Amino acid sequence: MAVDLNTAVPHSARIYDYLLGGKDNFAADRAAAAAIVKASPSLPISMRANRNYLARAAHYLAADLGIRQFLDIGAGLPTSPNLHEVVQRVDPTAKIVYVDNDPIVLVHARALLTSTPEGSTTYLDADLLDADKIIKASEVRALDFSRPIAISLIAVLQFVTDEAEAHRIIDTLMARLAPGSALAISTVTAHNEQAVQGAKAYTARGIPAKPRTDDEVAALFRGLDLVEPGVQLVHRWRPDPAATAVDDLHVQMSGGVAVKR
Ligand SMILES: C[S@@+](CC[C@H](N)C(=O)[O-])C[C@H]1O[C@@H](n2cnc3c(N)ncnc32)[C@H](O)[C@@H]1O
Repeated sequence: MAVDLNTAVPHSARIYDYLLGGKDNFAADRAAAAAIVKASPSLPISMRANRNYLARAAHYLAADLGIRQFLDIGAGLPTSPNLHEVVQRVDPTAKIVYVDNDPIVLVHARALLTSTPEGSTTYLDADLLDADKIIKASEVRALDFSRPIAISLIAVLQFVTDEAEAHRIIDTLMARLAPGSALAISTVTAHNEQAVQGAKAYTARGIPAKPRTDDEVAALFRGLDLVEPGVQLVHRWRPDPAATAVDDLHVQMSGGVAVKR
């Protein structure tokens, strides 16, 4: 399979990988990352706090809500622990479909496909903007739609800058799911000046990004029941000791989890 990585142009997945200490990035990504971190120095701390939130939210969905099927859109490059590792530790039979639209994530998808023998992980190369295609894809239809499915949109919705489009995407995804299904979100907050500057720096490098107020984030969950503690800076959502140690000033993402009744 020939994949055009377009290495001369910065990509969000590779910038993220670089800032998390990964190796799957190119000079253009590192130059963009340096400029973005200059505008937003706490971004690497925020990204780690977001990654820890992803793990806590995934554990909650599996252990507390009992969900066994996961659709993780904007999965990103493999970073330990990946979502399937967290939920298959709760139940090895859990099934996960990862989705991303970045060619380099596709290249590295094999590292996401390390399922337990009892469960499954699959990868779908698709664009969140085409939510209808995602929900109808054979990889996704292989899930049992009569049972709850958790959708995670972690650190991806900031790249959907049109509010009506973000709502349409979420409505399209959630409409097909059974009661008891859930949605987990994190996205860039408008309540942190460095987050606002960081989003401007992404936008200036050809990756449009939008910060959202807590009210705008809460509105993304319309029609669903937000679980406690509602929309929070990600390190404040059901924190573990590591999250409690993080300073509000360094966290640029807010999010939450909601359930479909
Ligand atoms: C900042 S990373 C977040 C990765 C992971 N969810 C996490 O929180 O660690 C954003 C990911 O979303 C992907 N992405 C951005 N826009 C997308 C779109 N329209 N459709 C699918 N994936 C997208 C990027 O390729 C990247 O891998």
